[in-house]
Amino acid sequence: MTDLTPVLSVEGVAKTFTLHLQGSQVLPVLQGVTFDVPRGACVVLGGDSGAGKSTIMKMVFGSYQVERGRIALAAGDRTVDIAIASPREVLAARRDAMGYVSQFLSAVPRVAAIDVVAEPLVERGSDRAVARERAGELLERLSIPERLWELPPATFSGGEQQRVNIARGFATERPLMLLDEPTASLDARNRAVVVEMIRERLRAGTGILAICHDAEVRDAVADRIVDVSAFAPERQMVPA
Ligand SMILES: Nc1ncnc2c1ncn2[C@@H]1O[C@H](COP(=O)(O)OP(=O)(O)OP(=O)(O)O)[C@@H](O)[C@H]1O
Ligand SMILES: [Mg+2]
Repeated sequence: MTDLTPVLSVEGVAKTFTLHLQGSQVLPVLQGVTFDVPRGACVVLGGDSGAGKSTIMKMVFGSYQVERGRIALAAGDRTVDIAIASPREVLAARRDAMGYVSQFLSAVPRVAAIDVVAEPLVERGSDRAVARERAGELLERLSIPERLWELPPATFSGGEQQRVNIARGFATERPLMLLDEPTASLDARNRAVVVEMIRERLRAGTGILAICHDAEVRDAVADRIVDVSAFAPERQMVPA
């Protein structure tokens, strides 16, 4: 039986930032944000710089508080509303139901690249040797030379760090994947590999929410583009 419930359903979400350093002025950024990410589909957030794309991503991942609305994430046979979930529930939802490939790698110092990639698998109970083997396959696929695997990624090039980050994000399989500019500093060959990896996940039923300025990659993976500019409130600074 096919499950037609979307993996992610965002309804009527609003976000206002309070600028504490500027006399508690409030900056309304988003209102009425509504869209679904169906299983096996890739939804790309589009719209101008400053429209609120990264803000939406951070609210879905539970890093930013949600002021109003609902962010329903299908986690196994339960649905979690990230907008009102406790920090503990957010952490559980991340572990079980959503992966996030951030724009930049923030690796723990002195941890070898292969262990950075293997870590999410070990965290979820995989045997360390098995996890490292899987990590090696991903690093190889993303053309990270084997001589770098045992080195910490801190000194790697921007593109190498991003590929380690992608390998880490793809190490585990979760129902929802969030991708923030996954191919920004990659060459054409590695971009094509990432597109292929994204398509494989979509075929396996993963729902993907992505920010992606590269038109070629976007056209290759997007099933739908959500124009975030459409959710702009009246841009007025209101004293609190
Ligand atoms: N933590 C924050 N505190 C205050 N304002 C913020 C914060 N985060 C984002 N903003 C503001 O919210 C608006 C949307 O920012 P956001 O980073 O979501 O835009 P974006 O669509 O991702 O842009 P870009 O394409 O440039 O990455 C901007 O005006 C930004 O200054
Ligand atoms: Mg952004």
